[in-house]
Amino acid sequence: MSLRFRLVLLLALCGGAVSMPAAVAAGAQPAPAEGRRLFMQVGCYQCHGTVGQGGAAGPRLAPDAWPLEALLPFLRNGTRLMPAYPASILADAEIAAIQVYLASIPAPPRPGAVPALRGVRGVPAAAARP
Ligand code: HEC
Repeated sequence: MSLRFRLVLLLALCGGAVSMPAAVAAGAQPAPAEGRRLFMQVGCYQCHGTVGQGGAAGPRLAPDAWPLEALLPFLRNGTRLMPAYPASILADAEIAAIQVYLASIPAPPRPGAVPALRGVRGVPAAAARP
């Protein structure tokens, strides 16, 4: 069953009175893969990188992704430097899916733990994560 269909079903069951984030909070947990698809489709990756690693045009988004309560209003409003994403482009539930994707991205390995970087000047020796 698709995410959209599940949410529509949930909204119908609730009489359509709840907002999408409430519907998501009620248990329709979106899959990270759906969030990734949307992240690529609407172009977040162009500024933030395909795994939210950041780039020349946008800051790093993961790990430590913003919670949905912060991400949702931020995307709706945008900033002077980042475009806004109105509901006509991304539904609340789609933003929730993007948040799940960003929150699923693991921290990168420490440089010293990457075999190809071992012994490179300036790369500290691998140490256990704190
Ligand atoms: C045109 C480039 C661009 C696109 C496309 C873009 N962003 Fe951004 N984003 C930025 C820039 C630049 C900032 C920093 C904004 C500022 O400081 O005013 C930012 C900031 C953010 C932040 C805050 C990060 C922080 O730690 O301050 C989040 C979260 C974010 N973007 C998510 C997204 C998502 C999700 C999408 C897609 C729906 C997206 N962005 C699309 C350029 C972009």
